[in-house]
Amino acid sequence: MDNARPSNPEMDPIAAQQQASAVQMLGLQLPTDPRWVNLAERSLEEVLTDHAYCEQKAASTCISLIQQYPEHEKLVDELAPIVTEEWGHFRQVMRALRERKLKLGRQRKDVYVNKLFAHIPKGQSREEVLLDKLLVAGLIEARSCERFRLLSLYLEDPVMRKFYHGFMVSEAGHYRLFLDLARTYFPVDEVQRRWDGWLAFEAEVIASLELRGERMH
Ligand SMILES: [Fe+2]
Ligand SMILES: [Fe+2]
Repeated sequence: MDNARPSNPEMDPIAAQQQASAVQMLGLQLPTDPRWVNLAERSLEEVLTDHAYCEQKAASTCISLIQQYPEHEKLVDELAPIVTEEWGHFRQVMRALRERKLKLGRQRKDVYVNKLFAHIPKGQSREEVLLDKLLVAGLIEARSCERFRLLSLYLEDPVMRKFYHGFMVSEAGHYRLFLDLARTYFPVDEVQRRWDGWLAFEAEVIASLELRGERMH
């Protein structure tokens, strides 16, 4: 990766264009406000703490899906290694904190993730709930990927830019995996219809949240 720090999309129309196409590729409807990177940069300990717990939650979401749907062999086989990977991410974040003599703070309430999971309609069949859970998990991966991309491009510290680049690549893979699993167990049209609904709702959630640099979402 080039060590020169590119200009922030807020200032640079080419960067803004690249940002728009990255967001489009992930399907997200609302790009993150580029000022978020500058805010995050000023609160590294908090953002790393928040990130560490996001990785834990990602691991535990995969564990829960395996516990709830053991009859879906492909799901079990494909999510089992992701648990290990997400836990590895948690350890990587811990290492980054330790190396900088920063401390893992306390876990905060994750309004973004809670709002998404709370929006899964009640009274659905077990299988319908699975579809929504896979899509919500994919959505969280997509948004995390979008934010890691911003950090990997616009942080001042080249070591941290490289650090976040690795996360961006990995979470992009998880995003695809969750959508592939959804298409394995459900008709493609149904997956698309629900996915579109989730994308619209996610944009509403993002728009409703205050822009805070010490949080991943
Ligand atoms: Fe991760
Ligand atoms: Fe992930």
